[in-house]
Amino acid sequence: MADELAASVLKYLSENEPIDTQDLAKVLNVDHQKIVGVVKSLQSLGEIINAEQRLNKSYELTEEGKQVAEKGSHEALIFHAIPDGGIPQAELMKTVPNAKIGFSKAMQAGWVQMDKKSEGGPKVFKKVDKIEDSVQDCMRRIQDLNLDGITDNQKNEYKKRKLVQEVKFASYLLSKGADFKLSIAKQEVDLTPEMISKGSWKDKTFKEYNFNALGVMPHCGHLHPLMKVRAEYRQIFLEMGFTEMPTNNFIESSFWNFDVLFQPQQHPARDAHDTFFISDPASAHTFPMDYLERVKKVHSVGGYGSQGYKYDWSIDEAKKNILRTHTTAVTSRMLYKVAQQPEFKPVKYFSIDRVFRNENLDNTHLAEFHQIEGVVADYGLTLGDLIGVINEFFKKLGITKLRFKPAYNPYTEPSMEVFSYHEGLKKWVEIGNSGIFRPEMLLPMGLPEGVNAIAWGLSLERPTMIKYKIDNIRELIGSKVNLQMVYDNPVCRLDK
Ligand code: PHE
Repeated sequence: MADELAASVLKYLSENEPIDTQDLAKVLNVDHQKIVGVVKSLQSLGEIINAEQRLNKSYELTEEGKQVAEKGSHEALIFHAIPDGGIPQAELMKTVPNAKIGFSKAMQAGWVQMDKKSEGGPKVFKKVDKIEDSVQDCMRRIQDLNLDGITDNQKNEYKKRKLVQEVKFASYLLSKGADFKLSIAKQEVDLTPEMISKGSWKDKTFKEYNFNALGVMPHCGHLHPLMKVRAEYRQIFLEMGFTEMPTNNFIESSFWNFDVLFQPQQHPARDAHDTFFISDPASAHTFPMDYLERVKKVHSVGGYGSQGYKYDWSIDEAKKNILRTHTTAVTSRMLYKVAQQPEFKPVKYFSIDRVFRNENLDNTHLAEFHQIEGVVADYGLTLGDLIGVINEFFKKLGITKLRFKPAYNPYTEPSMEVFSYHEGLKKWVEIGNSGIFRPEMLLPMGLPEGVNAIAWGLSLERPTMIKYKIDNIRELIGSKVNLQMVYDNPVCRLDK
């Protein structure tokens, strides 16, 4: 018990002061570190003791030194390996480990002699009958921390022979303090409700608060890797002067998700195989009707220089509620809003949020995932602007080798898939999709003639899985996620 030890320390100190904690440890036969612990806690109680720190040098045995303490010095082992009739030197050298050093030390000590002219090579004989292994003796004393009588010369030699090494440690010279006492009251650590209600706290002494002690790590929330990576992408967009769009509606009408994007109603993506339809409420009812009429017209008969798709556009199809299949639904709502402003001003928007697709699940695909999307609208934007802004965006992520491949989206023309060279996989991998929004989308919204909108999108999961080296998406999202993974993963720093 620490309290008992404290009492013994105080009792001894009352009769023998000053005393060094090292000596005290020997007298009380306890580990020096334990005495130091008691000193620290006595110090925290005020002036009970004075403790003056001293830095000490000591020695401890190396592995080789421990061997010597146990089995004898190298020179003693050599001596004992020599039979009475002597032994050829070559043979002697094979008998014990460290024979070379042992032999030379034994020669130096005058314990052995050599006959160089002997037949069959030099032969070694004992020169004395008995030896005293003072090296082993010293090693044993050092092991017992009893260094008295070991000279500095000896210490230096053992250090050179790498049998011992110097260690530094602190001890304390103890003396009685101004408030010295022999016993210390048990210190309370907590103030309990009982102490307060019974008033017993008045007679207790409380342990002083140690503001330097490390506290218990609080259990707090941890950002999921996806959210960490999202924060980094958001930062990049903000640095580039983009504004975040409101993305808080997972449920969207087909109108905003598909129709306004000039995606025909027979398009396979609008099939239940690809899209989750909402059963309750199954349809949306409020639309800007004049806009809806223009959308209907551009699909069914064309306009704005377009032939349209020439089919019977159905409002019922447009009303169908779905889980949004892409964040471009958010973009379309936003661009419509921009078009309603009295005067058009250039805009740069981004969004990062969840989308849903009724897809086959595998190691890299889930039915819900996150999209990152950027859009810029201004007069006279070109494909060159799109390539430029995408280059700039990915450059900020540390991705510089980009290639663009023509692609098809119902709402962009031209459209391009974005590929980057993956140094690890040594091949070009698709990292995003992009394009210039079609006039059939922008003009019905009411955006002025000559205003173009360039946009690109990518998934959030893919860069996250690469960044955190997760190869199965189920380890990232869903019921199988190990929360420890979430706690342990470091903050995201994209190698920009
Ligand atoms: N909406 C597209 C997708 O889901 C991405 C995209 C965004 C394409 C913007 C072009 C323009 O893949």
